[in-house]
Amino acid sequence: MSYTAADPDSPTHSRGRAQRATEGWAFLVESIRNHRTVGSIAPSGKSLANLLADPLLERAPRISNVLEVGAGTGSVTRVLLPRIPRGSRLDIVEANAHFAAHLRRLVRGCPNLPEKQEQVRVHNAYVEQLTTGHRYDVIVSGLPFANFSPRQVEEIMGRYFDLLRPGGILTYFSYCGSRWVRTFLTSRPEAHRQREVKDLLTQYHNRYAIGCWTVWGNLPPAKVWYLRRPIDAVDASGALTVQPDLSR
Ligand SMILES: C[S@@+](CC[C@H](N)C(=O)[O-])C[C@H]1O[C@@H](n2cnc3c(N)ncnc32)[C@H](O)[C@@H]1O
Repeated sequence: MSYTAADPDSPTHSRGRAQRATEGWAFLVESIRNHRTVGSIAPSGKSLANLLADPLLERAPRISNVLEVGAGTGSVTRVLLPRIPRGSRLDIVEANAHFAAHLRRLVRGCPNLPEKQEQVRVHNAYVEQLTTGHRYDVIVSGLPFANFSPRQVEEIMGRYFDLLRPGGILTYFSYCGSRWVRTFLTSRPEAHRQREVKDLLTQYHNRYAIGCWTVWGNLPPAKVWYLRRPIDAVDASGALTVQPDLSR
């Protein structure tokens, strides 16, 4: 029997389906064990992953430094890997040791990567503690901010903006409606925490957002934000601050 690569019954398709099912289970197990940090019961779908990774396409073929934070089982990593132009760098940060091991296998098995392999690294670490000595053109964040304390969100957003080059883009997502569900189903302090996180992120949106889309086809539907670090930052005293570029 002969198949084309696009045939849904082909061995390639079946392998892909089996792999996604295995990853789905692994994700669910880790989500039950570490609900606060994993923050979802299923990996991101294709449309969401594509939208999160699109700023890299827009930069191509320019060499880029890319940071992916909270990669999980790699649904966004899988979109980023083939889009990385030669000579670029991809740092993948994942706090969960099982996911980090899975991501290392994913990177090693990526078919068209051999000549790029040296530039892709998986760090089993919390992004708060990450030290790569580089700055980034694109940061893709998969972190579940809705589960974090306002202090942690503030620390991580501050870190993202320190790590971004001037003009660099941060993309991240939040699930639609999750705040309302929790506000009605949880305690008053929990509702207060949620509101503070939302207010903090709104401040970032007001200052830096350049785009926002809802991906209705994702399970659950998600809102994707693009934030851009300004080229020139005016500091509190009104003086122009030019940030040093650490990475080249
Ligand atoms: C909502 S899942 C997203 C997974 C994947 N990006 C996706 O879209 O399917 C969040 C991931 O962030 C990781 N994570 C949570 N806090 C982290 C932190 N502070 N630093 C790095 N990774 C973290 C979790 O282990 C989990 O894999």
